Amino acid sequence: MSEIKAPKGTRDIFAPEIDTWRFLENAIHTYYRKFLFQEIRTPIFEHSELFRRGIGDETEVVQKEMYTFRDKSDRSLTLRPENTASVVRAAIESNFFETMTPLRFYYIGPMFRYDKPQKGRFRQFHQYGVEIFADETPQVDAEVIFSAVDFLKKLEIADLQLDLNSVGCPQCRPPYLHVLRQAARAHETELCSDCRRKIDANPLRIFDCKKPPCEAVAGRLPLLSDHLCGECRNHFAAVREALSWMNVPFRLNPRLVRGLDYYTKTAFEITSGQLGAQNALLGGGRYDNLIRDLGGPDMVGIGFAAGMERIILHLGHLQAQPLRVLFVAYGDPRWLAHAVQLAQVLREEGFPVLLDFQGKSLKKQFKKADRSAAAFTLVLAEDEIRSGTVSIKDMARQEQVNIPLKELNAWLKKNY
Ligand code: HAM
Repeated sequence: MSEIKAPKGTRDIFAPEIDTWRFLENAIHTYYRKFLFQEIRTPIFEHSELFRRGIGDETEVVQKEMYTFRDKSDRSLTLRPENTASVVRAAIESNFFETMTPLRFYYIGPMFRYDKPQKGRFRQFHQYGVEIFADETPQVDAEVIFSAVDFLKKLEIADLQLDLNSVGCPQCRPPYLHVLRQAARAHETELCSDCRRKIDANPLRIFDCKKPPCEAVAGRLPLLSDHLCGECRNHFAAVREALSWMNVPFRLNPRLVRGLDYYTKTAFEITSGQLGAQNALLGGGRYDNLIRDLGGPDMVGIGFAAGMERIILHLGHLQAQPLRVLFVAYGDPRWLAHAVQLAQVLREEGFPVLLDFQGKSLKKQFKKADRSAAAFTLVLAEDEIRSGTVSIKDMARQEQVNIPLKELNAWLKKNY
C-alpha cells in the first residue's frame, strides 16, 4: 500500500526538538503571568463569519489563506488563521467585559493558513500571543511592546529589529485613503493585477505586496503618518515616549500596515536578521473597533502574536538531560508479577522504570536494557526471590551487587 505522508506545510515535532518547545511554552507561562495575563484556550475552528468580519474580507488571509469547510449541518467553519478574533469572541460570549479585571489574556496554540510553505512558513504553525482589552492608554501599548521585546531578549535572541507605525483611526483613515487612491491610480499601469484591484477595495494593502514594481510604487505613495488626526498623533507620540522610558529602541516604519484589517493607531512588528525571507518573529497592534464590530461593547484592545516555529529556529535544540532508566528484569515468567510490583514501587518513588513484559530470557532482557540506555538493571531471579533480595547491575561499570529488597530505596538514593 502507498505510504501516507503528513499534509504539505505541516510537520511532526518530536525529540529532541520537542524539549525546546516545552522549554519555550514554560518560559511563556512564567513570563506572562508576571504581567497578570491569564491563559485562554479557544476552539481550533470557529464560524467563518468571525474571521471574515474580524480580519477583513479584503485581506490576503481571508481571501486566499483560510481553511474553510462545511460541516454536516452545512455550517461554514474555518480553522483559525489567528487568535485575536477568537479571544474577542470568547470575551463577548462569556461576558468578561462586565465580570473580569484586568482583561489580559495570553494563548499558545496552532493556527492554520493556506500559505506557500518555505523555511519558517507553514500551513499549520503555532503562535503565542497576548491581548489586553479596555485600556486606551498609550502606555499600555508600550508595555505590550516592551514585554514582546524583553521576552525575546531573555531567550537570548539577538539581532532583533522593532518596527513601529501608527495606522490611524476611522477619523483620519478615510480622507487619507482618498488621497492614497488618487496617487495609486496615477501609477495603475505599474502595479500587478492584484494591487490594481486593491486600489478600490483596500489601497493600504498595496504596501503589503512584495513584487518589486509594486514596492517601487509603494515607495512613492503618500504616507498615513503625514495624515494622522490630532488624537492619533498624540497617542503615537506618547507611545514613543513611554518606549523610551522603558529603554526599548525602535525604528519608525511609515509603510508598516500589517496584514489584518482590524488595526487602529499603534502597529508594530519584530523581525530578526537571522531568518531570511520569513523574518517576522512577531506582529501586533491596537484594534480599537474590533470588539464593537464583533458585537461587543465599545471597548478597545491591543495585542500581538509571535510565530513559535520561527522562535524555535533561533533557539536551536536544547540538550535535554538523558533519562537515567531503571530496567527491571526477571529470571523466569513466574517472577513477572514481582517485577511488575517492583516497577510500580519504583515509579511511585519517581524513578523512570522500564520492564519487558515479553522477557523471554535474562540475556534478551539485558540486551533490551542496553538498547534503552538503562543506568541500572535490577534483576529478580530464583535466588533473589527466595532470599528477598535484588541484584543491581551498573550498566556502565558492568558491576553487580546484591542487596535486600528493603534496602533498595536507600541504595538508590546513594547510588542513582
Ligand atoms: P500576524 O502578523 O498575522 O498577526 O501573525 C503573527 C506572527 O505569526 C507572524 O509575525 C509570524 O511570526 C507568525 N506566522 C504567521 N503566519 C505564519 C506561517 N504561515 N507560518 C509560520 N509562522 C507564521 C496575527 O496573527 C495577529 N493575530 C496578531 C495580533 C494579536 N494582533 C493583535 N493581537
